[in-house]
Amino acid sequence: MNATMLNGRELAASLRVELAREARRFARRRQRQAHLGLALVGDDPTARLYADQVARASDRAGLRLSLHEYRADVDEVALRAAIAALGASADVDGVALLLPLPRHIRQRVVMEALPAAKDVDGLGPQNAGRLMLGFPSFVPSTADAALELLRLAEVDLRGRDTVVVGRSNVGGKPAGLLFLRENATVTFCHSRTPDLAAITRQAEVLFTSMGRPGAITPDMIRPGAIILDAGMTNVGGQIVGDVDFSGASEVASYITPSPGGLGPLTPLMLIRHTLVGPS
Ligand SMILES: NC(=O)c1ccc[n+]([C@@H]2O[C@H](COP(=O)([O-])OP(=O)(O)OC[C@H]3O[C@@H](n4cnc5c(N)ncnc54)[C@H](OP(=O)(O)O)[C@@H]3O)[C@@H](O)[C@H]2O)c1
Repeated sequence: MNATMLNGRELAASLRVELAREARRFARRRQRQAHLGLALVGDDPTARLYADQVARASDRAGLRLSLHEYRADVDEVALRAAIAALGASADVDGVALLLPLPRHIRQRVVMEALPAAKDVDGLGPQNAGRLMLGFPSFVPSTADAALELLRLAEVDLRGRDTVVVGRSNVGGKPAGLLFLRENATVTFCHSRTPDLAAITRQAEVLFTSMGRPGAITPDMIRPGAIILDAGMTNVGGQIVGDVDFSGASEVASYITPSPGGLGPLTPLMLIRHTLVGPS
């Protein structure tokens, strides 16, 4: 292996110390613990696992966490009202709606009811719009985790050819906009991109959020590239990233494993947003 591994688990350990300090500062200033509300609709195993991870991380940092569970057949109007009420509550500092949602619930309709100042995962239209405009905003946690790992590797994105594969509102789109804010030259690819390899081979920095296990093979990678793999697909009980990790490690300069790269940082980003606000 030639590439240096960008180890999210190691970085998570130092971030936890920082977050515990921020949580104490918050409690001193406000005379109460910071409070993050999570809304879980139905019982999707990925959303449930993520809720557990955020709960553990909140507990360790010293945040109060409340989990608000709604039945999978909850009415969209009722869910929207519940999220609005949670957002209006004076002792709640941040609210995150866990994904995926049942098919009959429109994420947009629900997220519009959450005040932007409490939309700590940046999924609502106001924060997304602010990110698009290059203004300070809450940024979806996975995108923010990618930036955090780039800081660890001391990568300056200015002018770097950066390719983002995937354009979801939680993964590729915010990551690309965040990289643009850092002055990278950004190309977005998606399922209709005709020759993906021709574009990924140009990338000095390659971020993938496709959910296609092993789709990025070593021949698609520019020698010395920095690879950030947000893909986390369950294949026979094992989490597998979008990138062929062992092959890509021979070509890249830095690479995140999956699992163990962006994943461990994502809940910590949500907690940081709740404690310190938008960036
Ligand atoms: N680490 C984390 O915290 C985190 C957070 C979010 C997501 N994820 C993981 O990231 C993966 C993707 O999830 P997501 O929600 O971002 O995306 P998603 O909504 O599942 O969409 C996948 C994206 O990949 C694109 N795509 C699919 N096949 C492609 C191909 N062959 N070539 C080029 N582009 C292709 C799609 O293009 P179209 O738009 O054209 O369909 C789409 O934009 C999943 O494994 C998920 O578990 C991880």
